Amino acid sequence: MQAIELKPNVYWVGGIDWNLRNFHGYQTPRGSTYNAYLIIDEEITLIDTVKHYLFDEMLTRIKSVIDPKKISTIISNHVEMDHSGSLPFILKYAPNATVFTSTRGEKGLQKHYKHNWNIHVAESGESLSIGKRKLTFTHIPMVHWPDSMVTYSGFDKILFPNDAFGQHIASSERFDDELSFGILEEEAAKYYANIVLPYGGQVQKALDALHSLEVDMIAPSHGIIWRKYLKEIIEKYQKWSSNTTNHKAVIVYDTMWGSTEKIAYALYEGLREKGIFVSLRNLNQTHMSDIVTDVLDAKLVLFGSPTLNNGMLPTMGGFLTYLKGLRPKDRVGFVFGSFGWGGQAVGQIESIVDEMGWDRPIASTNINYIPEEQDLKKIRDIGSQLANYIKKNNEK
Ligand code: FEO
Repeated sequence: MQAIELKPNVYWVGGIDWNLRNFHGYQTPRGSTYNAYLIIDEEITLIDTVKHYLFDEMLTRIKSVIDPKKISTIISNHVEMDHSGSLPFILKYAPNATVFTSTRGEKGLQKHYKHNWNIHVAESGESLSIGKRKLTFTHIPMVHWPDSMVTYSGFDKILFPNDAFGQHIASSERFDDELSFGILEEEAAKYYANIVLPYGGQVQKALDALHSLEVDMIAPSHGIIWRKYLKEIIEKYQKWSSNTTNHKAVIVYDTMWGSTEKIAYALYEGLREKGIFVSLRNLNQTHMSDIVTDVLDAKLVLFGSPTLNNGMLPTMGGFLTYLKGLRPKDRVGFVFGSFGWGGQAVGQIESIVDEMGWDRPIASTNINYIPEEQDLKKIRDIGSQLANYIKKNNEK
């Protein structure tokens, strides 16, 4: 449990959560890390902490560099407990340390820990000298909590952006050049889609502020540290935060006796005939956190459910609740389903797609009992029409 040096006198002292498979509802098949950073300067400074159950791991890593009593400054970039959970414990070792946090951070820490710690509320743009280094704090509200803050060390050219640029990956590797870029991109996209997606406007503002800084390392609070693929990850954040989508479709559905699934496959055929890449996702087999990752760069999303007890299947209800909360914008939607009697599911899904403000250019399909071959032919045609529509109305 050693600290890992990022640059002279700047160390990673975080915890690796190898067994994490669920992060408040988001499936994390690769686990995660909570990254804390230790800077050895005239003021010994700790940036963020780890989830409470990994405190001993963080402490051991800190002790591999310095006596934790010597910590005089702690920066809490974000209140959420995966990063603040060990603050009460480290402050037992360093009770006189001052905790620097944003205005909303101060309120959040008080609510969580009912503490009497030495707190300094850092204004956005404020700097703190810790010796050779000057640390600058910038508030980035709603990326992704109101209290979120980034810390920048110009001396080291390192940005500590907390959750931004994170990925849920548990690994012994700490840097982006030590793992496959494909895995990093996939996990960074999943992280963005599930955590950051509602806040594209705020991300764009934060990216604008980043342009003026000299940065050769981005050290987020989850996963690996970016030092090789900075340009690539910043470009990805530009793309995702600006809602840029591809000629890509996601068909998300559930089925009772196979009729809605037949419609899903017919739509798939129609889209593929026109060269559109399609993800076909059965809600029973694919977790919703993976499906929203598919939605991140897809222009077209097709939703299918049969009617059960006058409504949509609960899997679709849960998925739509999650998707609506993440607020993906400027998408094209299409709704389909099957029914024996009633057939209310389709109308209920349409209402939610419309509430999201999406374009729904083609009337929904709702098949009584089982689709016949002539129905499936019409449905394949609908797939092709949707393909043509997004090609005409989307730049990529
Ligand atoms: Fe990684 Fe918002 O906590």
